[in-house]
Amino acid sequence: MKGNIALTFGILFCIFAYLYDPKTCRTYVRALLRFVNGGEEHSDDRLKLTVTVFSREELSKYKGMNGGDVYLALLGNVYDVTRGRKHYGPGGGYSFFSGIDGSAAFVTGEFNEKGLVDDISKLSNQDILGLEEWKSFYEKDYKFVGIVEGSFYDKEGNVRDMMRIYKKKLEDALLEKDLLDSDRQLFPSCNSEWAQNKGGRVWCSTKSGGISRDWVGVPRMYYATGSSKARCACVRTSGPPSYDPQSTSHKDRGDLDNPNLSLYPNCNADSISCPLPKK
Ligand code: HEM
Repeated sequence: MKGNIALTFGILFCIFAYLYDPKTCRTYVRALLRFVNGGEEHSDDRLKLTVTVFSREELSKYKGMNGGDVYLALLGNVYDVTRGRKHYGPGGGYSFFSGIDGSAAFVTGEFNEKGLVDDISKLSNQDILGLEEWKSFYEKDYKFVGIVEGSFYDKEGNVRDMMRIYKKKLEDALLEKDLLDSDRQLFPSCNSEWAQNKGGRVWCSTKSGGISRDWVGVPRMYYATGSSKARCACVRTSGPPSYDPQSTSHKDRGDLDNPNLSLYPNCNADSISCPLPKK
């Protein structure tokens, strides 16, 4: 319904706009459909009619040679980066990105033939978040001009498997980030210092690990789920455990009984500061 109203407006607008500037008309409909699809692009047949689908060969012509336009693609989306000619044009420090979709290299830094590819399937979830940042950057600073045939879209503009892989990885990455964020809230990192004469120490305060709170906690070696390496975490010592905050029958030991914790050697269980074992 929302789509039909938007489309009707788009068509009426186009009839008028076409007389003046057909490109504006296309951009307008594209923006409307993007809105209708909740920011999701190229997902239906109507939209495919309005988005330019570049072939790889076509896109490769936009390298800014002889003062021409410069386009680059990221995640299958093509952006006009002519404004950034000093970076992307001939002789620019990032000219290897122009005329292609070199998505993977945006996070691997592999600026060679092997690295400048649109296969993102081997990238980590963390890398995917990096790509999302680049995508926001291009959406904000440059103009979207179409999509390119490649791993993300076929030559008709249909979504290909790589897009589905990307979406899944992004979903996982955001979930992981949420878990990590809440882990950092429940088990904030300790303050730490090291001096040649005194050695190292870790300690807790009402602000450590970037988390301000109304409790201090005690330092413990914390093995977060899925991590084989311990980090120093400040652990809450009173109230219910975090995994059951509503509990009425708790032992008032906070998270001290969490099985992923261990005491630093040579440190009292209730001390807020612990010397670090010498390496
Ligand atoms: C994976 C690694 C990297 C990638 C993918 C990358 C990519 C880019 C891109 C695409 C631009 C142009 C942005 C625009 O359109 O305005 C840029 C600009 C820039 N990059 Fe990088 N970069 C990387 C690493 C680095 C490193 C390690 C440095 C510094 C040691 C650096 C320094 C700069 C500077 C100074 C600019 C701005 C240049 C200017 O405005 O004149 N980059 N980078």
